[in-house]
Amino acid sequence: MSTTRSLDIQPLVLDDVSAIEEIEQRSMPAPWSRMMFVSEIVKTTSICLGAFVEDRLVAYVIVSRYVDAWHVMNLVVAPEHRRQGIATRLLASLFEQAADDERRGFTLEVRVSNDAAIELYESLGFQGQGIRRGYYTDNREDALIMWRDPREP
Ligand SMILES: CC(C)(COP(=O)(O)OP(=O)(O)OC[C@H]1O[C@@H](n2cnc3c(N)ncnc32)[C@H](O)[C@@H]1OP(=O)(O)O)[C@@H](O)C(=O)NCCC(=O)NCCS
Repeated sequence: MSTTRSLDIQPLVLDDVSAIEEIEQRSMPAPWSRMMFVSEIVKTTSICLGAFVEDRLVAYVIVSRYVDAWHVMNLVVAPEHRRQGIATRLLASLFEQAADDERRGFTLEVRVSNDAAIELYESLGFQGQGIRRGYYTDNREDALIMWRDPREP
């Protein structure tokens, strides 16, 4: 496992959108559009964090605040930077930022075939709580709905 000592976690800004798009296109079967990222970054009810190595974006997480929960909308690590603990560090930073918010836990949907992401989320205290049938429009794949209690360690 390579080191992530030089990893810097910062809020995303509009200037990061081109780098986000480049990683998104290489990583996701149904990539978000540029406008979807722009609208989340400018929203005051979202937390959008980037992980940078030597000032280059290598990963990002987008989270929206809903009435009852924080919703993890998007999380991607650039393929050449995976299995170095970067997603774990991004999510730990997110949990710290939301720590004052005792009312809201975290929820997300993940493709039922996405073993890597499901393992990651389980390692951070998320639990599967149900299935949304045919949730993904590109291939009608089911989504596993996961939740993490606000008071998880
Ligand atoms: C899922 C993803 C975000 C994980 O990012 P990452 O930085 O590689 O994850 P971490 O290094 O923090 O991994 C933490 C733990 O998650 C699990 N995990 C991560 N990738 C895994 C894989 N490919 N296979 C099995 N377990 C995996 C392991 O338990 C891992 O701990 P370990 O490395 O000590 O065994 C990354 O693979 C990715 O960007 N995938 C494509 C986009 C995606 O699927 N996003 C999630 C959408 S819901």
